[in-house]
Amino acid sequence: MTPASLVPVTLTVNGRAVQALVEPRTHLADFLREHLHLTGTHLGCEQGVCGACTVVLDGKPQRSCIAYALDCDGSAVSTIEGFDDDVLMGALRTAFSAHHGLQCGFCTPGMLVTARDIVARLGDVPEMRIREELSGNLCRCTGYVGIVAAIRAVCAGRLPIAAIAPIHASAVSVPVLQDAVTRRSASDQVPQAAEPSKPPPAIATGDGRPTLTERITLTAPPDTVWAALADLRTVASCVPGAEITAIEGEAVTGRLRVALGPIRAGFAGQGSVTRDEATRSGQLSGRGRDTGSGSSVEGEARYAVRPAGAGTELEVTLSWRLTGSLAQFARTELVQAVARQMLERFTANLEALIQGKAPAEARPLGVFALLWAMIRARLFRR
Ligand code: FES
Ligand code: FES
Repeated sequence: MTPASLVPVTLTVNGRAVQALVEPRTHLADFLREHLHLTGTHLGCEQGVCGACTVVLDGKPQRSCIAYALDCDGSAVSTIEGFDDDVLMGALRTAFSAHHGLQCGFCTPGMLVTARDIVARLGDVPEMRIREELSGNLCRCTGYVGIVAAIRAVCAGRLPIAAIAPIHASAVSVPVLQDAVTRRSASDQVPQAAEPSKPPPAIATGDGRPTLTERITLTAPPDTVWAALADLRTVASCVPGAEITAIEGEAVTGRLRVALGPIRAGFAGQGSVTRDEATRSGQLSGRGRDTGSGSSVEGEARYAVRPAGAGTELEVTLSWRLTGSLAQFARTELVQAVARQMLERFTANLEALIQGKAPAEARPLGVFALLWAMIRARLFRR
């Protein structure tokens, strides 16, 4: 890896400004642990499932193992170390000890970050709501009874508080520059954490953006497919959750709804479309914003139509950049599962439309379909 392939990132971590050069694929948890040595953020599954890596990103608990550090550029991050002198976290630590809310302690940093968010955001909440809110944090030891009891003990009689960032006794912003390259070479003698699990091979991150290329085989001949792709509203009707609201020349306005378990996002935005008859290829680029989460996406879809026997090979390349709270879904198999599911549904819908039938699926992707896709991918990988 040459320095040329490193990219700059600027974050505020536990109240301190940090600048560094990182590999585009570096996820936030590795950045915190390896570059800043904030090892209180634990890594369990590295797939966004266990919650051990939970930190506060721009005021909300997020999984740092599935967010690229690069996508968090400009954000404020609080790790468990950042809550050292936080009054509410202090109460939770004491309660976790008193109620036997930890045994091995592996889940505890993430559990405490989530617990603090529950108490701060909701105040006095019943046990069932605490269990629901904790559903993204797994503990292999305690059976959760002590953890829930600890949170109940702390939240009892409390009102929600607006600010959920840590309240430091001496909140100061100290500009500290840590160049990742320098820091790495200077810390060669420091034991390095294990190499992070690689993103699935189909996802490249050459220019800092995840990029995924898929080749789809359609039974219709290339002329028919190329003609169908000329109608943007037809194309949009084949993409789960997509809708075009206006087309003016090459400019397009539309929406894309995404549903991932408890997360519902609706990106509204503008884009532009180009098509090249000579090479039978086209491109759609655009950007959109989800006002609910404050997240933004900018991306590009390129496609090319080629003959494949009696049918057609449609090559689709997607590249995107997510920022904001949904940036936690910018990495790993979840992204691959989303893209694959989108393309599978798109293919089925386009085939149906070409045959004069209505698209089978217009609703956004569901979490169970995605989980199944991820499980299936793992099963067939072995
Ligand atoms: S390490 Fe399991 S969710 Fe991040
Ligand atoms: S205390 Fe061991 S995993 Fe939770």
